[in-house]
Amino acid sequence: MNNHRILRGPLVSFLNDPGEGDTPAPGSVLHHDDGAIWIENGKIRAVADYREIASILPADIEVVDYSDKLMMPGFIDSHVHYVQLDIMASYGRQLLDWLNDYTFPEECRFAERSHAENVAEAFLDEQLRVGTTTAQVFCTSHPVSVDTFFAAAKRRGLRMLAGKVMMDRNAPDALTDTAESGLRDTQRLISDWHGKDRLGYTLTPRFAPTSTPAQLDATGGILRNAPDLHLQTHLSENQGEIDWVAELFPDCTDYLEVYERYDLVGPRSTFAHGIHLTQPMRNRLAAAGANIAFCPTSNLFLGSGLFDRLACRDAGLNISIASDVGGGTDLSGLATLKAAYQVGQLLGQPLTAWQGFYRLTLGNARALHLDSRIGSFREGGEADIAVLDPHATPLLSRRSERTRNLTEQLFALMMLGDDRTIYATWANGECLHQRDIA
Ligand code: GUN
Ligand code: ZN
Repeated sequence: MNNHRILRGPLVSFLNDPGEGDTPAPGSVLHHDDGAIWIENGKIRAVADYREIASILPADIEVVDYSDKLMMPGFIDSHVHYVQLDIMASYGRQLLDWLNDYTFPEECRFAERSHAENVAEAFLDEQLRVGTTTAQVFCTSHPVSVDTFFAAAKRRGLRMLAGKVMMDRNAPDALTDTAESGLRDTQRLISDWHGKDRLGYTLTPRFAPTSTPAQLDATGGILRNAPDLHLQTHLSENQGEIDWVAELFPDCTDYLEVYERYDLVGPRSTFAHGIHLTQPMRNRLAAAGANIAFCPTSNLFLGSGLFDRLACRDAGLNISIASDVGGGTDLSGLATLKAAYQVGQLLGQPLTAWQGFYRLTLGNARALHLDSRIGSFREGGEADIAVLDPHATPLLSRRSERTRNLTEQLFALMMLGDDRTIYATWANGECLHQRDIA
Protein backbone atom coordinates (compact mmCIF):
# COMPACT_ATOMS: atom_id res chain seq x y z
CA MET A 1 0.00 0.00 0.00
CA ASN A 2 1.39 3.36 -0.97
CA ASN A 3 0.03 5.42 1.84
CA HIS A 4 0.79 9.09 1.16
CA ARG A 5 -0.29 12.18 3.01
CA ILE A 6 0.83 15.66 3.88
CA LEU A 7 0.64 17.20 7.33
CA ARG A 8 0.63 20.95 6.81
CA GLY A 9 1.36 23.56 9.48
CA PRO A 10 4.06 25.15 11.61
CA LEU A 11 6.83 22.73 12.53
CA VAL A 12 9.96 22.66 14.69
CA SER A 13 12.62 19.98 14.76
CA PHE A 14 16.26 19.87 15.83
CA LEU A 15 19.28 19.26 13.64
CA ASN A 16 21.70 19.51 16.53
CA ASP A 17 22.07 20.42 20.21
CA PRO A 18 20.91 24.06 20.45
CA GLY A 19 23.21 24.73 23.43
CA GLU A 20 22.30 26.46 26.67
CA GLY A 21 21.84 29.98 25.34
CA ASP A 22 18.59 31.91 25.07
CA THR A 23 18.77 31.59 21.31
CA PRO A 24 19.57 28.26 19.68
CA ALA A 25 23.03 27.63 18.24
CA PRO A 26 23.16 28.50 14.54
CA GLY A 27 21.96 25.65 12.35
CA SER A 28 20.53 23.62 15.23
CA VAL A 29 16.83 24.17 14.50
CA LEU A 30 14.61 23.44 11.54
CA HIS A 31 11.53 25.68 11.60
CA HIS A 32 8.81 26.38 9.06
CA ASP A 33 5.83 28.64 9.74
CA ASP A 34 3.93 26.89 6.98
CA GLY A 35 5.63 23.55 6.80
CA ALA A 36 4.83 20.26 5.17
CA ILE A 37 5.67 16.75 6.28
CA TRP A 38 5.18 14.33 3.40
CA ILE A 39 4.51 10.88 4.81
CA GLU A 40 4.79 7.75 2.71
CA ASN A 41 4.34 4.25 4.12
CA GLY A 42 5.17 5.28 7.66
CA LYS A 43 8.31 7.21 6.72
CA ILE A 44 9.01 10.86 6.07
CA ARG A 45 9.49 11.34 2.34
CA ALA A 46 10.17 15.07 2.55
CA VAL A 47 10.05 18.00 4.97
CA ALA A 48 9.79 21.45 3.49
CA ASP A 49 8.05 24.75 3.34
CA TYR A 50 4.57 23.91 2.06
CA ARG A 51 4.66 26.42 -0.78
CA GLU A 52 7.98 25.06 -2.02
CA ILE A 53 6.73 21.53 -2.18
CA ALA A 54 3.11 22.12 -3.28
CA SER A 55 3.85 22.04 -7.01
CA ILE A 56 5.36 18.55 -6.95
CA LEU A 57 2.69 16.89 -4.79
CA PRO A 58 0.37 14.31 -6.34
CA ALA A 59 -2.91 16.05 -7.19
CA ASP A 60 -5.03 13.76 -5.04
CA ILE A 61 -2.81 13.63 -1.95
CA GLU A 62 -4.61 14.05 1.38
CA VAL A 63 -3.55 17.21 3.21
CA VAL A 64 -4.17 17.28 6.96
CA ASP A 65 -4.43 20.88 8.05
CA TYR A 66 -2.57 21.78 11.25
CA SER A 67 -2.18 25.42 10.36
CA ASP A 68 -2.85 26.77 13.86
CA LYS A 69 -0.89 24.00 15.59
CA LEU A 70 2.82 23.17 16.04
CA MET A 71 4.27 19.88 14.85
CA MET A 72 7.29 18.38 16.60
CA PRO A 73 8.90 14.95 16.46
CA GLY A 74 7.13 12.48 18.77
CA PHE A 75 8.43 12.77 22.31
CA ILE A 76 10.77 10.16 23.79
CA ASP A 77 10.80 9.00 27.42
CA SER A 78 14.15 7.38 28.21
CA HIS A 79 13.12 5.68 31.46
CA VAL A 80 9.64 4.71 32.64
CA HIS A 81 8.00 1.80 34.46
CA TYR A 82 4.72 0.90 32.71
CA VAL A 83 3.90 -1.48 35.55
CA GLN A 84 3.79 1.40 38.04
CA LEU A 85 1.01 3.28 36.29
CA ASP A 86 -1.53 2.45 38.97
CA ILE A 87 0.65 3.41 41.94
CA MET A 88 1.52 6.89 40.74
CA ALA A 89 0.85 9.44 43.47
CA SER A 90 1.32 7.11 46.45
CA TYR A 91 1.95 9.31 49.45
CA GLY A 92 4.86 10.15 51.60
CA ARG A 93 7.78 7.78 51.15
CA GLN A 94 11.34 8.02 49.95
CA LEU A 95 12.83 5.46 47.61
CA LEU A 96 13.43 2.32 49.68
CA ASP A 97 10.18 2.52 51.66
CA TRP A 98 8.29 3.47 48.51
CA LEU A 99 9.61 0.33 46.80
CA ASN A 100 8.62 -1.92 49.70
CA ASP A 101 5.29 -0.34 50.55
CA TYR A 102 3.85 0.36 47.12
CA THR A 103 6.00 -0.79 44.22
CA PHE A 104 6.80 -4.39 45.00
CA PRO A 105 3.22 -5.29 46.01
CA GLU A 106 1.95 -3.73 42.80
CA GLU A 107 4.52 -5.47 40.63
CA CYS A 108 3.41 -8.84 42.06
CA ARG A 109 0.14 -8.44 40.13
CA PHE A 110 1.97 -8.75 36.83
CA ALA A 111 2.27 -12.50 37.18
CA GLU A 112 -1.22 -12.48 35.65
CA ARG A 113 -1.44 -11.97 31.93
CA SER A 114 -4.82 -10.25 32.01
CA HIS A 115 -3.57 -7.62 34.44
CA ALA A 116 -0.43 -7.00 32.40
CA GLU A 117 -2.50 -6.66 29.22
CA ASN A 118 -4.86 -4.22 30.82
CA VAL A 119 -2.10 -1.98 32.16
CA ALA A 120 0.00 -2.17 28.98
CA GLU A 121 -2.93 -0.91 26.90
CA ALA A 122 -3.77 1.83 29.40
CA PHE A 123 -0.13 2.91 29.56
CA LEU A 124 0.21 3.15 25.77
CA ASP A 125 -3.07 5.08 25.54
CA GLU A 126 -1.70 7.54 28.09
CA GLN A 127 1.67 7.83 26.35
CA LEU A 128 -0.02 8.72 23.08
CA ARG A 129 -2.30 11.21 24.82
CA VAL A 130 0.82 13.13 25.88
CA GLY A 131 2.63 12.91 22.55
CA THR A 132 5.14 10.23 23.56
CA THR A 133 5.81 7.78 20.77
CA THR A 134 8.91 6.00 22.08
CA ALA A 135 9.95 4.99 25.58
CA GLN A 136 12.50 2.78 27.30
CA VAL A 137 10.28 0.76 29.56
CA PHE A 138 10.78 -1.27 32.71
CA CYS A 139 8.44 -4.24 32.93
CA THR A 140 8.50 -6.57 35.98
CA SER A 141 10.45 -9.74 36.59
CA HIS A 142 7.59 -11.75 35.03
CA PRO A 143 8.29 -12.58 31.37
CA VAL A 144 4.57 -12.26 30.65
CA SER A 145 4.76 -8.57 31.58
CA VAL A 146 7.22 -8.13 28.70
CA ASP A 147 5.34 -10.30 26.21
CA THR A 148 2.15 -8.33 26.77
CA PHE A 149 3.87 -4.97 26.58
CA PHE A 150 5.71 -5.74 23.35
CA ALA A 151 2.59 -7.30 21.81
CA ALA A 152 0.59 -4.15 22.59
CA ALA A 153 3.31 -1.85 21.23
CA LYS A 154 3.66 -3.98 18.08
CA ARG A 155 -0.07 -3.85 17.36
CA ARG A 156 0.14 -0.06 17.43
CA GLY A 157 3.28 0.11 15.30
CA LEU A 158 5.28 1.90 17.99
CA ARG A 159 9.04 2.08 18.38
CA MET A 160 9.61 0.88 21.95
CA LEU A 161 12.44 -0.48 24.07
CA ALA A 162 11.60 -2.71 27.03
CA GLY A 163 12.88 -5.53 29.14
CA LYS A 164 12.28 -7.94 31.97
CA VAL A 165 13.46 -6.84 35.38
CA MET A 166 16.20 -9.04 36.69
CA MET A 167 16.32 -9.24 40.47
CA ASP A 168 17.40 -12.25 42.43
CA ARG A 169 17.60 -10.91 45.98
CA ASN A 170 16.24 -8.36 48.46
CA ALA A 171 12.71 -8.41 47.08
CA PRO A 172 9.57 -10.50 47.77
CA ASP A 173 9.81 -14.13 46.65
CA ALA A 174 7.00 -13.55 44.17
CA LEU A 175 9.21 -11.08 42.35
CA THR A 176 12.63 -12.65 42.45
CA ASP A 177 14.17 -14.74 39.71
CA THR A 178 17.53 -16.49 39.97
CA ALA A 179 20.70 -15.76 38.06
CA GLU A 180 19.92 -18.80 35.87
CA SER A 181 16.19 -18.25 35.32
CA GLY A 182 16.69 -14.52 34.78
CA LEU A 183 19.24 -15.27 32.09
CA ARG A 184 17.10 -17.95 30.44
CA ASP A 185 13.95 -15.81 30.40
CA THR A 186 15.86 -12.80 29.12
CA GLN A 187 17.38 -14.80 26.28
CA ARG A 188 13.96 -16.15 25.29
CA LEU A 189 12.47 -12.64 25.30
CA ILE A 190 15.36 -11.28 23.22
CA SER A 191 14.86 -13.97 20.63
CA ASP A 192 11.09 -13.41 20.51
CA TRP A 193 11.07 -9.61 20.41
CA HIS A 194 14.40 -7.90 19.75
CA GLY A 195 14.45 -6.30 16.31
CA LYS A 196 10.86 -7.36 15.53
CA ASP A 197 9.12 -4.51 13.72
CA ARG A 198 10.03 -1.41 15.77
CA LEU A 199 10.86 -3.17 19.04
CA GLY A 200 14.18 -3.43 20.82
CA TYR A 201 15.25 -5.24 23.96
CA THR A 202 16.71 -3.50 27.01
CA LEU A 203 18.53 -5.60 29.61
CA THR A 204 17.04 -4.53 32.92
CA PRO A 205 18.82 -5.38 36.17
CA ARG A 206 16.66 -3.36 38.59
CA PHE A 207 19.56 -1.88 40.58
CA ALA A 208 22.63 -3.17 42.37
CA PRO A 209 20.92 -4.02 45.68
CA THR A 210 18.47 -6.47 44.11
CA SER A 211 20.94 -8.45 42.02
CA THR A 212 23.62 -10.85 43.20
CA PRO A 213 27.09 -10.57 41.70
CA ALA A 214 26.25 -13.75 39.76
CA GLN A 215 23.24 -12.09 38.13
CA LEU A 216 25.12 -8.90 37.29
CA ASP A 217 27.89 -11.01 35.81
CA ALA A 218 25.44 -12.97 33.65
CA THR A 219 23.90 -9.70 32.45
CA GLY A 220 27.30 -8.33 31.49
CA GLY A 221 27.93 -11.55 29.58
CA ILE A 222 24.78 -11.06 27.47
CA LEU A 223 25.74 -7.47 26.68
CA ARG A 224 29.28 -8.41 25.67
CA ASN A 225 27.89 -10.90 23.17
CA ALA A 226 25.14 -8.64 21.84
CA PRO A 227 26.28 -5.01 21.99
CA ASP A 228 23.22 -3.85 20.00
CA LEU A 229 21.05 -4.49 23.06
CA HIS A 230 20.25 -1.63 25.41
CA LEU A 231 20.63 -1.75 29.17
CA GLN A 232 18.93 0.29 31.84
CA THR A 233 19.12 0.37 35.61
CA HIS A 234 19.15 2.87 38.49
CA LEU A 235 22.17 4.66 39.95
CA SER A 236 22.77 6.98 42.93
CA GLU A 237 19.22 8.16 43.38
CA ASN A 238 18.93 8.24 47.14
CA GLN A 239 21.35 8.31 50.08
CA GLY A 240 19.84 5.23 51.77
CA GLU A 241 20.25 3.32 48.53
CA ILE A 242 23.88 4.42 48.21
CA ASP A 243 24.68 3.34 51.79
CA TRP A 244 23.06 -0.04 51.12
CA VAL A 245 25.13 -0.59 47.97
CA ALA A 246 28.28 0.21 49.96
CA GLU A 247 27.32 -2.50 52.48
CA LEU A 248 26.45 -5.07 49.82
CA PHE A 249 29.52 -4.44 47.66
CA PRO A 250 32.27 -3.53 50.15
CA ASP A 251 35.00 -4.18 47.59
CA CYS A 252 33.75 -1.44 45.28
CA THR A 253 34.95 2.09 45.94
CA ASP A 254 31.67 3.60 44.77
CA TYR A 255 28.25 2.64 43.39
CA LEU A 256 29.25 3.03 39.75
CA GLU A 257 32.13 0.61 40.18
CA VAL A 258 29.59 -2.17 40.82
CA TYR A 259 28.20 -1.73 37.33
CA GLU A 260 31.65 -1.23 35.83
CA ARG A 261 32.93 -4.42 37.41
CA TYR A 262 30.31 -6.46 35.58
CA ASP A 263 30.67 -4.66 32.21
CA LEU A 264 27.31 -2.97 32.38
CA VAL A 265 28.49 0.54 31.55
CA GLY A 266 28.54 1.07 27.80
CA PRO A 267 27.24 3.36 25.08
CA ARG A 268 23.75 1.83 25.17
CA SER A 269 23.45 1.95 28.96
CA THR A 270 20.96 4.28 30.63
CA PHE A 271 21.38 5.00 34.33
CA ALA A 272 18.29 6.54 35.86
CA HIS A 273 18.82 9.44 38.26
CA GLY A 274 22.58 9.77 38.90
CA ILE A 275 21.89 12.57 41.34
CA HIS A 276 24.58 11.92 43.92
CA LEU A 277 27.68 11.53 41.76
CA THR A 278 31.20 12.88 42.03
CA GLN A 279 32.76 14.52 38.99
CA PRO A 280 35.15 11.56 38.49
CA MET A 281 32.10 9.27 38.38
CA ARG A 282 30.50 11.52 35.76
CA ASN A 283 33.75 11.43 33.80
CA ARG A 284 33.79 7.64 33.88
CA LEU A 285 30.21 7.45 32.65
CA ALA A 286 31.03 9.95 29.91
CA ALA A 287 34.09 7.99 28.80
CA ALA A 288 31.90 4.90 28.42
CA GLY A 289 29.37 6.85 26.32
CA ALA A 290 26.55 6.00 28.76
CA ASN A 291 23.65 8.31 29.53
CA ILE A 292 21.98 9.49 32.71
CA ALA A 293 18.20 9.71 32.62
CA PHE A 294 17.24 12.91 34.42
CA CYS A 295 13.85 12.25 36.01
CA PRO A 296 12.85 15.56 37.60
CA THR A 297 9.26 14.84 38.67
CA SER A 298 10.40 11.61 40.31
CA ASN A 299 13.37 13.25 42.02
CA LEU A 300 11.06 15.87 43.52
CA PHE A 301 8.27 13.43 44.40
CA LEU A 302 10.54 10.93 46.16
CA GLY A 303 12.63 13.70 47.69
CA SER A 304 15.72 12.22 46.08
CA GLY A 305 17.59 15.44 45.33
CA LEU A 306 18.39 17.99 42.66
CA PHE A 307 20.08 16.70 39.52
CA ASP A 308 23.09 18.79 38.49
CA ARG A 309 22.61 18.84 34.74
CA LEU A 310 25.43 21.25 33.99
CA ALA A 311 27.97 19.23 35.96
CA CYS A 312 27.10 16.31 33.66
CA ARG A 313 27.40 18.56 30.65
CA ASP A 314 30.83 19.72 31.83
CA ALA A 315 31.91 16.10 32.00
CA GLY A 316 30.65 15.51 28.45
CA LEU A 317 28.15 13.03 29.86
CA ASN A 318 25.03 12.34 27.78
CA ILE A 319 21.82 13.32 29.48
CA SER A 320 18.42 12.03 28.56
CA ILE A 321 15.14 13.13 30.09
CA ALA A 322 12.54 10.82 31.53
CA SER A 323 9.33 10.57 33.51
CA ASP A 324 10.26 7.58 35.72
CA VAL A 325 6.57 6.95 36.35
CA GLY A 326 5.45 5.69 38.94
CA GLY A 327 8.11 7.56 40.97
CA GLY A 328 7.43 10.36 38.54
CA THR A 329 4.18 12.25 38.83
CA ASP A 330 3.47 12.80 35.16
CA LEU A 331 3.87 10.90 31.91
CA SER A 332 3.80 14.14 29.97
CA GLY A 333 7.06 15.29 28.44
CA LEU A 334 5.85 18.86 28.87
CA ALA A 335 5.37 18.34 32.61
CA THR A 336 8.79 16.70 32.77
CA LEU A 337 10.37 19.76 31.15
CA LYS A 338 8.54 22.05 33.54
CA ALA A 339 9.94 20.16 36.53
CA ALA A 340 13.41 20.12 34.92
CA TYR A 341 13.22 23.88 34.60
CA GLN A 342 12.22 24.23 38.24
CA VAL A 343 15.02 21.92 39.45
CA GLY A 344 17.40 23.93 37.29
CA GLN A 345 16.21 27.18 38.81
CA LEU A 346 17.04 25.89 42.29
CA LEU A 347 20.59 25.17 41.11
CA GLY A 348 21.01 28.40 39.15
CA GLN A 349 20.87 26.55 35.82
CA PRO A 350 17.39 27.07 34.35
CA LEU A 351 16.56 24.92 31.34
CA THR A 352 15.78 26.85 28.17
CA ALA A 353 12.82 25.73 26.10
CA TRP A 354 15.19 25.03 23.21
CA GLN A 355 17.35 22.75 25.30
CA GLY A 356 14.26 21.13 26.83
CA PHE A 357 12.52 20.28 23.57
CA TYR A 358 15.85 19.15 22.10
CA ARG A 359 16.23 16.67 24.97
CA LEU A 360 12.67 15.42 24.59
CA THR A 361 13.23 14.67 20.89
CA LEU A 362 16.60 14.45 19.16
CA GLY A 363 18.63 14.56 22.39
CA ASN A 364 16.86 11.50 23.79
CA ALA A 365 17.04 9.77 20.41
CA ARG A 366 20.79 10.34 20.32
CA ALA A 367 21.29 9.21 23.91
CA LEU A 368 19.46 5.98 23.02
CA HIS A 369 21.18 5.58 19.63
CA LEU A 370 17.85 5.81 17.84
CA ASP A 371 18.54 9.07 16.02
CA SER A 372 18.94 7.42 12.63
CA ARG A 373 15.25 6.53 12.88
CA ILE A 374 13.41 8.95 15.18
CA GLY A 375 13.78 12.24 17.06
CA SER A 376 13.78 14.66 14.13
CA PHE A 377 11.95 15.46 10.92
CA ARG A 378 14.21 14.32 8.12
CA GLU A 379 13.91 12.47 4.88
CA GLY A 380 13.80 8.74 5.45
CA GLY A 381 13.06 9.09 9.16
CA GLU A 382 10.10 7.37 10.78
CA ALA A 383 6.92 9.44 10.86
CA ASP A 384 6.34 9.88 14.60
CA ILE A 385 4.83 13.29 15.24
CA ALA A 386 3.35 15.20 18.18
CA VAL A 387 0.94 17.96 17.16
CA LEU A 388 0.80 20.64 19.84
CA ASP A 389 -2.04 23.12 20.23
CA PRO A 390 -0.98 26.53 21.59
CA HIS A 391 -4.68 27.31 22.08
CA ALA A 392 -5.57 24.10 23.90
CA THR A 393 -7.01 25.87 26.94
CA PRO A 394 -8.27 29.41 27.47
CA LEU A 395 -5.30 30.23 29.69
CA LEU A 396 -2.68 28.78 27.35
CA SER A 397 -4.37 30.56 24.47
CA ARG A 398 -4.15 33.92 26.25
CA ARG A 399 -0.49 33.32 27.02
CA SER A 400 0.23 32.17 23.47
CA GLU A 401 -1.36 35.33 22.07
CA ARG A 402 1.06 37.37 24.17
CA THR A 403 4.23 35.54 23.06
CA ARG A 404 6.42 37.51 20.66
CA ASN A 405 8.49 34.76 19.11
CA LEU A 406 8.98 31.00 18.96
CA THR A 407 11.30 31.00 21.99
CA GLU A 408 8.53 32.44 24.16
CA GLN A 409 5.89 30.19 22.62
CA LEU A 410 7.90 27.05 23.30
CA PHE A 411 8.55 28.11 26.88
CA ALA A 412 4.85 28.82 27.48
CA LEU A 413 4.03 25.35 26.11
CA MET A 414 6.53 23.66 28.41
CA MET A 415 5.34 25.52 31.49
CA LEU A 416 1.58 25.62 30.91
CA GLY A 417 1.07 22.59 28.68
CA ASP A 418 -0.40 19.23 29.66
CA ASP A 419 -2.21 16.36 27.95
CA ARG A 420 -4.77 18.78 26.50
CA THR A 421 -1.92 20.50 24.65
CA ILE A 422 -1.37 17.40 22.53
CA TYR A 423 -3.87 17.80 19.73
CA ALA A 424 -2.83 14.66 17.88
CA THR A 425 -0.13 12.00 17.96
CA TRP A 426 1.08 10.15 14.89
CA ALA A 427 3.28 7.07 14.91
CA ASN A 428 4.62 5.11 11.97
CA GLY A 429 2.68 7.43 9.70
CA GLU A 430 -0.71 6.82 11.32
CA CYS A 431 -2.76 9.07 13.57
CA LEU A 432 -3.03 7.08 16.81
CA HIS A 433 -4.42 9.79 19.04
CA GLN A 434 -6.75 12.65 18.32
CA ARG A 435 -7.79 14.87 21.23
CA ASP A 436 -11.52 15.40 21.58
CA ILE A 437 -12.45 18.38 19.54
CA ALA A 438 -14.91 19.78 22.06
N1 GUN B 1 15.36 1.98 42.16
C1 GUN B 1 15.10 0.64 42.07
N2 GUN B 1 13.87 0.42 41.62
C2 GUN B 1 13.32 1.61 41.38
C3 GUN B 1 12.05 2.02 40.89
O1 GUN B 1 11.16 1.22 40.57
N3 GUN B 1 11.85 3.36 40.81
C4 GUN B 1 12.81 4.27 41.14
N4 GUN B 1 12.54 5.56 41.01
N5 GUN B 1 13.99 3.91 41.62
C5 GUN B 1 14.25 2.60 41.73
ZN1 ZN C 1 12.98 4.06 37.58
